[in-house]
Amino acid sequence: MANPSSAQKGERILSLRGVSKKFGAVSALTDIDLDVHAGEVVALVGDNGAGKSTLVKVLAGVHEPTGGTVEYMGKQVRLDSPAAALNMGIATVFQDLALCENLDVVANLFLGHEISPWRLDEVQMEVRAWTLLKELAARIPSVREPVASLSGGQRQTVAIARSLLLDPRIIMLDEPTAALGVAQTAEVLNLIERVRDRGLGVIIISHNMEDVRAVADRIVVLRLGRNNGVFTPETSNHDLVAAITGATDNSVSRRHDRLQTEAREEAV
Ligand SMILES: Nc1ncnc2c1ncn2[C@@H]1O[C@H](COP(=O)(O)OP(=O)(O)OP(=O)(O)O)[C@@H](O)[C@H]1O
Ligand SMILES: [Mg+2]
Repeated sequence: MANPSSAQKGERILSLRGVSKKFGAVSALTDIDLDVHAGEVVALVGDNGAGKSTLVKVLAGVHEPTGGTVEYMGKQVRLDSPAAALNMGIATVFQDLALCENLDVVANLFLGHEISPWRLDEVQMEVRAWTLLKELAARIPSVREPVASLSGGQRQTVAIARSLLLDPRIIMLDEPTAALGVAQTAEVLNLIERVRDRGLGVIIISHNMEDVRAVADRIVVLRLGRNNGVFTPETSNHDLVAAITGATDNSVSRRHDRLQTEAREEAV
């Protein structure tokens, strides 16, 4: 697989300014700013209904924004269809993965973009599938295994590998670890790091702060459809929860205050 052609590590790939999306009277997004650079993982966090999926769908060309601008590689663009976003180099792995259970790994990887569509070159596809999965150090027992027999983590790997075949600059993952156990989560997080190391910009939506801290270079908080701060993985849980919920009084902040009080009392 060719690496994303011209984006240099750290170069800004995507830049949103003042992006808004209304559904009738409902403002799902208001005045959103977001930057994504080559070789970084940006985590999008926020409570239910904060606008995370809507933002990803705007970038995936599913929803057209009702306001604001989107720049891609320094040029203002319109992402008016999923095909437009994909052709531009913005790939999305939606939460349902959209894999075909009865088909094997190779068939799933190349579904819809088979090499020489009139006469499928099975050998070439299998070699390409193996090469890509090896580069990603993916643990798939056999590329001729039907997807139905793979674990949740392996399926996520196949879905991510499939989106990489289109050679995108940005890959967006909606809750990639939500249904996974501990070992499989670690495997998918490793995979995300390898995708970043290839120079892609990764946007990950997650409700799991541990996963977010493990891979994210920046944590972007949305609250009620607006930006509510950009944080580093070193930010305390207390501050992150406060930004996500907007409340300074919650069980995490109370525990934080209690621990601080105890520490002060011990110091006396
Ligand atoms: N197609 C739609 N039509 C009308 N309202 C919508 C539509 N999609 C989303 N919304 C509204 O926009 C707001 C943001 O929803 P969104 O799905 O983006 O939240 P989210 O952050 O992804 O939440 P969750 O963590 O629950 O997935 C919500 O108030 C939701 O009801
Ligand atoms: Mg969502």
